[in-house]
Amino acid sequence: MYQILKLNKISAVIDNVFGENYNVNDDAQNPDGIILRSFNMANYKTGDKLLAVARAGAGVNNIPVPEMTEKGIVVFNTPGANANAVKELVICAMLLASRDIVGGINWANTLTDDVEKATEKGKRAFGGSEILGKTVGVIGLGAIGALVANACVALGMKVIGYDKFLCEQSKAKLDSAVQIVTLEQIYKNSDIITMHVPLCDSTKKMINKDTLAQMKEGVILINMSRGALVDTDELKVAIDSGKVGKYVVDFPSKDILNCRNIIAVPHLGASTKEAEDNCAVMASSQLVDYLENGNILNSVNFPEINKEWNAKHRTVILFKQGCNILDQVDGDIKIAQNKGLGVAIIDTDSLLDLPLCDGVLRIRHLEK
Ligand code: MLT
Repeated sequence: MYQILKLNKISAVIDNVFGENYNVNDDAQNPDGIILRSFNMANYKTGDKLLAVARAGAGVNNIPVPEMTEKGIVVFNTPGANANAVKELVICAMLLASRDIVGGINWANTLTDDVEKATEKGKRAFGGSEILGKTVGVIGLGAIGALVANACVALGMKVIGYDKFLCEQSKAKLDSAVQIVTLEQIYKNSDIITMHVPLCDSTKKMINKDTLAQMKEGVILINMSRGALVDTDELKVAIDSGKVGKYVVDFPSKDILNCRNIIAVPHLGASTKEAEDNCAVMASSQLVDYLENGNILNSVNFPEINKEWNAKHRTVILFKQGCNILDQVDGDIKIAQNKGLGVAIIDTDSLLDLPLCDGVLRIRHLEK
């Protein structure tokens, strides 16, 4: 029986994926697998049985991935599973930033007498602009960024996009009207900038006084990715000077609440029934396939591997490049390697007895 710990509330559809060999709950002791959303695992003590962590979502900044790697724990995410939900909130954010819809609604709720007349008299304070014909700069053209870019084309916007790692496959998903440009061109030419990059050392505070200085006067910034992409102190200076017209962020923090021209949404990007179900199914299926078969799909630390069973016994080895354990192995082997880490799946008729050696992160035996 596999023990699966839920560190957040996860859609009940996982019950259809985890079969009768799984005990899934929110206080499983020493679990084989963990499934979570935004729970911060930074100071979380992992038990010695833990084999895999599955993030029902895209971002893994709440998981200490390098530590997991050293312990031979596979970390999965669910790229694309909530992309449409986030795209829809980005479009909503553009509209919220272009007209003072939030201010207008709040004001309307204060009206008491002769509401119709007061509405027509006071509404001019909450007008704004249309997004049609505006230039939107999309930073990051992965699953979410590509959907956002294409939706903006459909809304009649001029779309420019940048992605440091743009591959042919991602490029093929973009509407032909999306123009690929440099980051500097995004900053210089966009009326609206929306960010769709993961939070890592190179993207932390990427929006700061230097990048803000390159932007158009009154630019709208949309951040549905992670709050720490923006240096909020420097952003607030840019808002006060009028350089930034509006900032819409899906990650409220104390320093930005109730600030003029900042709209803080309570991390709702992926909070739709559809996205929660998609993420839950994808995360739990990937976890099950790894626990039962050693197959890896959508891991952020170990390479992808998939092997049909060809014998009664299966050995799954996670290793660092340079480790020579596989020299001693005979059998039906499949190996995948990427960025200094490797996975081997070996099918044999009898149990494989392997000595632990330097560079081996984990050896696991499975039986059909
Ligand atoms: C993500 O990284 O995809 C989102 O933060 C998911 C979530 O809201 O749980």
